Amino acid sequence: MPAFVDAAREIARLKLEVPLPRRWSHVRAVAAKARKVSQAIPPEDRDVLVASAWLHDVGHSPELVDTGFHSLDGGRWLKGQGIDERVAALVAHHSCAWLEAEERGLGKALAEEFTREQSAVADALCFSDMTTGPDGQDFEVLERLAEIRSRYGPDHLVTRFILKAQPEMITAVRRTQARLSAAPQPM
Ligand SMILES: [Fe+2]
Repeated sequence: MPAFVDAAREIARLKLEVPLPRRWSHVRAVAAKARKVSQAIPPEDRDVLVASAWLHDVGHSPELVDTGFHSLDGGRWLKGQGIDERVAALVAHHSCAWLEAEERGLGKALAEEFTREQSAVADALCFSDMTTGPDGQDFEVLERLAEIRSRYGPDHLVTRFILKAQPEMITAVRRTQARLSAAPQPM
């Protein structure tokens, strides 16, 4: 594992493993999936994808909660730690975070502080997160979206966000699947 990815893994482990073991299982599986689907993106972007997958939920760590919006809290904290800016921005914007930011009245802050990358890398990160369950199990995207809605319940802000974000998430997953089918298979 390159040092950069290894460092990302270690940061995530330190912040999540003890306080949030279930979240840590999810994150490990998301990172493993990102490594697998990195065939769908250019080789020079693969470490950025995997490092972002390790760090995507770091903002859930009780130590890092500030606004309570994990994508922004994680992105801001990573930026403050001097982590690669592209990784911090991918974390801040992961899995359609801009739509959740709007629900939370944080849309402007997110947009001003972090550039939203619209790329195969951002799609692959969304794919890895949205096809992995809370315990690290494999899910089809529709199953995963239903799982989130039932975990939070019909009146929760996250459920409202998921309902808005669904079409975009599904499209990002399908684009990644299409890139994977088109990618040369490793020997
Ligand atoms: Fe996640």
